Amino acid sequence: MHFLPDLATAPDTLASGVRSQFPVLAQRIHGAALAYLDNAATTQVPLPVLAAMRNFEVHDRANIHRGVHALSQRATDAFEQARSALKRFVGAGAGHELVFTSGTTEALNLVAHGLSAAAAGSAFLQPGDEIIVSGLEHHANLVPWQQAVRRSGAALRVLLPDAQGRLHPEDLVRLLTPRTRVFALTACANATGERPPFEALLALAAQAGALTVLDAAQAMAHAVPNLSALACDFMAFSGHKMHGPMGTGALVGRLAALERLAPLRYGGDMVDWVSYTDAGFAALPSRLEGGTPHVAGAVGMAAAAAFIDAVGRSGIDAHVAALRAHAAAGLAAIDDITVLSPWAAESAIVSFVARGVHPHDIGTLLDEQGIAVRTGHHCAQPLLDHLGLGPTTRASFALYNTHDEVERLVAGVARALEVLQ
Ligand code: ALA
Repeated sequence: MHFLPDLATAPDTLASGVRSQFPVLAQRIHGAALAYLDNAATTQVPLPVLAAMRNFEVHDRANIHRGVHALSQRATDAFEQARSALKRFVGAGAGHELVFTSGTTEALNLVAHGLSAAAAGSAFLQPGDEIIVSGLEHHANLVPWQQAVRRSGAALRVLLPDAQGRLHPEDLVRLLTPRTRVFALTACANATGERPPFEALLALAAQAGALTVLDAAQAMAHAVPNLSALACDFMAFSGHKMHGPMGTGALVGRLAALERLAPLRYGGDMVDWVSYTDAGFAALPSRLEGGTPHVAGAVGMAAAAAFIDAVGRSGIDAHVAALRAHAAAGLAAIDDITVLSPWAAESAIVSFVARGVHPHDIGTLLDEQGIAVRTGHHCAQPLLDHLGLGPTTRASFALYNTHDEVERLVAGVARALEVLQ
């Protein structure tokens, strides 16, 4: 039986074309074919990305920026070419720069710390200033701001979602004041799949004179934001959520905004001159990239961006949207299941709760059928508390997933509820 016949028979042409590039998917778990539906936590890495990283390690590995020898120069070129490729991928222009980080979490910490710590002169954030953070955020875009207000004496305001988990521009207008210095927002809520109107919200905050911060971690493998079209000063993302390596990421932003950041890491490669008592700092981006970076990781991130573009962004976006719509409709048709943000058509995430059943038990029974989903608070406890929900079960899709896997998910959840209720 198909839960949604028109979507269940939708073509999986794109998925079948790329699946052989992801060998990890071709395995059995507990005797069943793996259905990997945990892409919001991490996406899988295709062979061309692994080949690009291996090629760097086998042929070009050396430390960057400091060497005159050939390998060091090749490694430097590879690192800087990766930076340029990723800037193009997100629509960054001449007025932008990209700083490599260990992931979205480090990128957001770099912004929150960098605006609240004093490097040369006083910190950007001062007592009496206000920071607005949306109520949809992952802990990585909330806790660093909590620490920033402790450090600076600024105040933290939360743009709360309504009872359905939606953000409204008029609520932001009410919160903005002449003292609002920062507005931080996600491009897609990792716990609920809600896709807020971030373009309009960022524009409102920028018009009010605030620096704007976008957590784009959940929007890099599909529906990638175009920085040149956004009122966005800082955008953070992770390599591992765009089919690249773990432990990699970036902060891309307007040069004038990046210039305001105090470094998070002081040391080698980020200084201009050093005496025993003082130091002068290098220009961007080096100033914010102290220490030896993950060069193969940067190469891998750029290869992942090239892979996404080679497959085709519009095809990926349409396929992922169809999978999400199929799953949301199929799950919503099961008695006692509530799907969060069912309207979030551009999201790759479908998160749901089942009356009287703990998500952990659903996840365990799905795992027995080879279906990998995530359960819990998804590092967004304040949001789920605000919505009165507690933990959820979350399935999340990527370009290699199929409508057959969605059917297995929906059937597996229905079966789990029969067993558990
Ligand atoms: N931020 C990742 C998630 O949502 C880990 O699962």
